[in-house]
Amino acid sequence: MSAFPDGFLWGAATAAYQVEGGYQADGKGPSIWDEFAHRPSATYQGTNGDVAVDHYHRFREDVALMGELGMKSYRFSLSWPRLLPTGRGQVNEAGVAFYSDLIDELLKHQIEPMITLYHWDLPLALQQEGGWEARSTADAFVEYARLCYQRFGDRVKLWSTFNETVVFIGHGYITGAHPPAVQDPARAVQACHHVFVAHAAAVAAFRQSGIPGQIGFVNVLQPHTPRSSAPEDVAACELADGIYTHWLYDPVLKGEYPAELLAKTQSLWGVPRFAPGDDALLRNNLCDFIGLNFYKRETVAANPHGETQLTANHSGTRGSGHQPGKEFGFKGLFKFVRNPDGIYTDWDWEIYPQGLTDGILAIKARYGDVPIYITENGLGAKDPVIDGEVVDDDRIAYLSRHIAAIADAIEQGAEVRGYYPWSFIDLLSWLNGYQKQYGFVYVDHARGLARQRKKSFFWYQKVIAGNGELR
Ligand code: NOJ
Repeated sequence: MSAFPDGFLWGAATAAYQVEGGYQADGKGPSIWDEFAHRPSATYQGTNGDVAVDHYHRFREDVALMGELGMKSYRFSLSWPRLLPTGRGQVNEAGVAFYSDLIDELLKHQIEPMITLYHWDLPLALQQEGGWEARSTADAFVEYARLCYQRFGDRVKLWSTFNETVVFIGHGYITGAHPPAVQDPARAVQACHHVFVAHAAAVAAFRQSGIPGQIGFVNVLQPHTPRSSAPEDVAACELADGIYTHWLYDPVLKGEYPAELLAKTQSLWGVPRFAPGDDALLRNNLCDFIGLNFYKRETVAANPHGETQLTANHSGTRGSGHQPGKEFGFKGLFKFVRNPDGIYTDWDWEIYPQGLTDGILAIKARYGDVPIYITENGLGAKDPVIDGEVVDDDRIAYLSRHIAAIADAIEQGAEVRGYYPWSFIDLLSWLNGYQKQYGFVYVDHARGLARQRKKSFFWYQKVIAGNGELR
């Protein structure tokens, strides 16, 4: 018997900038990614999302493939500057029509839409006013969220506000690898606080709107293990885990920051400045569910004298968002090192499915029975092609093991409601161009972006048909 309950949402995920293209089509405004990816050497071989995989013009063909795959749900993000070209004020009706048509097309195929409001493509006009460091960006976000609820809330029941805050704030304000390319942890802390404020205010607006449905927040779920049993490595590991997990989860699931952790980082990073009312805002607007994006484990060591931070790698196949051969870390706090016993992907991400079971159960232990969706999980690889077929056996193995890990967590009492492998289709990998493939569907850039089903497509079709029965 399958461990997965009836009605479990077997899905797949994408994000607007990574698939849509049409970056100037029909009145869309520029985002920070449109500007950043056009800077010389910002990305692998100057790749960008101007065209991406042209989902903007091919969404009907793509949704037909989702239907054929048997997907019960599709997680995608809305491009804020496609809907509000300067971030607030004037609405771009052509952008509204695009998403409205996409939603209708999904529903026609009995696919439940799950919308992410913010997957990193901030309107450039708002960045020019200070981006997430400015409180006014949180106000603009609520205006944008309200617009989305009004226009799409009659058909969309599952919403999340932000995707992977630790990544867009961490790379945006600490490593400088993502826009706005700042390297200052204290500024990161304040920008991150404004994201929590924007989230809570958008949750409040969702509830005021009275539309039926649930709203949540999507976080990275990343297990950490100490390099050795030396007390300084163990302490560094606890700190890394606190930063990746409690800092990002407590404000949206408990309505407060983890005080002990903030006390430890205060001397290096400062603490978030609260405006009057922030405290109540966070406490009164907890999530209906939490989305977890799970890819890898990190091994952690103490870092008393190391680099404060290193920039991202996008030059080749190796590197997990930092320079290969160099260590990624925060001076005085911790660093990530290679696990000599680990099994790694082509991009040096350690494969560790048990971490997904453990992570889900740790969330249950700390936050109680909050419903969970696995909003991303997948293998980034250069897929082998044999006789014209994409034979992505490694992806099948990776996903099978992670589905089994979710089944284990469900059997141990966790309430997991859906699984969205990353990604439905091969897409733009922010800094890594199109060489890092994740999809069930291959896109041939040499043949006019033609779509082709991979071996994993037919495998996942069976998984869905069998409600996850694998054993
Ligand atoms: C998480 C992000 O949400 C997504 O945009 C990205 O492409 C994948 N991780 C893979 O790195």
